[in-house]
Amino acid sequence: MKHVPIVVLDFGSQYTQIIARKLRESGVYSEIVPYSEPIGEIMARTPKGIILSGGPASVYAVDSYHPDTTIFDLGLPILGICYGMQLIAQHFGGSVIPASSHEYGKAKLDFVEENPIFKDTPNGQIVWMSHGDRVESIPQGFEKIATSENSPYAAIADTNRNIYAFQFHPEVYHSQEGSKLLKNFAKHICGCESTWNMGSFAKEQIKQIQDKVGNKKVLCAVSGGVDSSVVATLLSEAIGNQVIPVFVDNGLLRANEREQVETIFKSRGIDLITVDASETFLSKLAGVTDPEKKRKIIGETFIEVFDVESKKHSGIEFLAQGTLYTDVIESVSVKGPSKTIKSHHNVGGLPDWMKFELIEPLREIFKDEVRALGLELGLPKNMINRHPFPGPGLAIRVMGDVNKPDLELLRKADVILLDVLHSTGYYEKTWQAFTVLLNVKSVGVMGDNRTYDNTVCVRIVDATDGMTATFAHIPHEILETISRRIINEVDGINRVVYDISSKPPATIEWE
Ligand code: XMP
Repeated sequence: MKHVPIVVLDFGSQYTQIIARKLRESGVYSEIVPYSEPIGEIMARTPKGIILSGGPASVYAVDSYHPDTTIFDLGLPILGICYGMQLIAQHFGGSVIPASSHEYGKAKLDFVEENPIFKDTPNGQIVWMSHGDRVESIPQGFEKIATSENSPYAAIADTNRNIYAFQFHPEVYHSQEGSKLLKNFAKHICGCESTWNMGSFAKEQIKQIQDKVGNKKVLCAVSGGVDSSVVATLLSEAIGNQVIPVFVDNGLLRANEREQVETIFKSRGIDLITVDASETFLSKLAGVTDPEKKRKIIGETFIEVFDVESKKHSGIEFLAQGTLYTDVIESVSVKGPSKTIKSHHNVGGLPDWMKFELIEPLREIFKDEVRALGLELGLPKNMINRHPFPGPGLAIRVMGDVNKPDLELLRKADVILLDVLHSTGYYEKTWQAFTVLLNVKSVGVMGDNRTYDNTVCVRIVDATDGMTATFAHIPHEILETISRRIINEVDGINRVVYDISSKPPATIEWE
């Protein structure tokens, strides 16, 4: 297992992932693991410090989340954040009570005494509070190191045991000096060095791939998107022609997608194997309307296709895919406290019978970090800046039953949307844009005739990592052009609507 200087235990806070990101941004590699991770696996990562994240539960609730308490006996520096602080207080004999009023929002942090965790940050800095419970009395050995108006124990520390705790969330944007506080913990308390960057990440991944694969071969699932292209590049740098890149035409691709992907890979001198499995996918999906069922069928069919393909080459034991942290966190709730939102095709959709061992070098990082890694590896900008496209493709953008005529209709609308966005410069300015075919028909009038046709929804979002997103504020004239062109040019569509929901509570894709 690789060395991870700071391990973050996840207790289910919506901000957990930002803790690891902030640390990585300051040059300290960090990974998130579920709160229930066995101590042996935590230690196998040889951490120099552990952070306990926030979480929605109360420490005294019957079903609250608790870590293996031996983490407190390891002698490793620990930082507890919000719920993490309450766990520390409870474990060492302090008390935690429900706060008379929930403290939510900005607060001024007043230092009580100097501490290396505050190094180079000003007294009176603004921090972000978001908690119901609070620590009422601190355990023996701990001292209060900062207060705020509503939190007498905004920060506490036991400097002998190297245990620190914040009631506030240093990781969120509104905590002005939050990144520095996390960096101080890593650097001055844990003794980590700021040596990590995308270049070192690439080197480390290449070395790990070499060690894992040896002289075997790897089938690399390529979709043409940035994630799988980065994985294919890492693999070809690591093991050269032991990698077999396979692109599956599942019949759920956008218009011209297959040709575009083939051209991009050819121009990079990579021999891509294209497998046309569209009939297989479409026949398995016929009549299926439940979104999770669609996703599972697609995930499983991908593996079947890879299985057949791998038999054509000798020595393939591994399957490499561009799984990201976002895919994992939204698909699995096996060990962590997060809820399953969608079974991303390459995580929750994998069948039990799969024989391949997985290689997923991007499993711990986010889309924007992958883009930075892609640049580091010398991938062309037009590939790096491609909008994300989900593995289940148009199947999750045709609501309900997926069939060829509906896919064709959607493709025609989708091409127009992309064309308008490219020509107005909005493709680059937005995170993702696509059309969704709703199974809603409505009445219209075209010329002198009544129509009763399909409705298409346009979804354009702004995001940085896809965990949250807002609908893009596209000028009305551009929306008007999109709508006019789709209705005029696509026979069978007489209404276009714009999705104005953010994530959360909606998700980016409709299914
Ligand atoms: P949601 O819809 O969950 O999407 O808000 C977040 C981001 O992930 C993409 N997405 C997927 N990508 N396999 C993928 O490779 C999937 O199964 C999948 N589902 C959603 C989605 O397009 C968005 O960018």
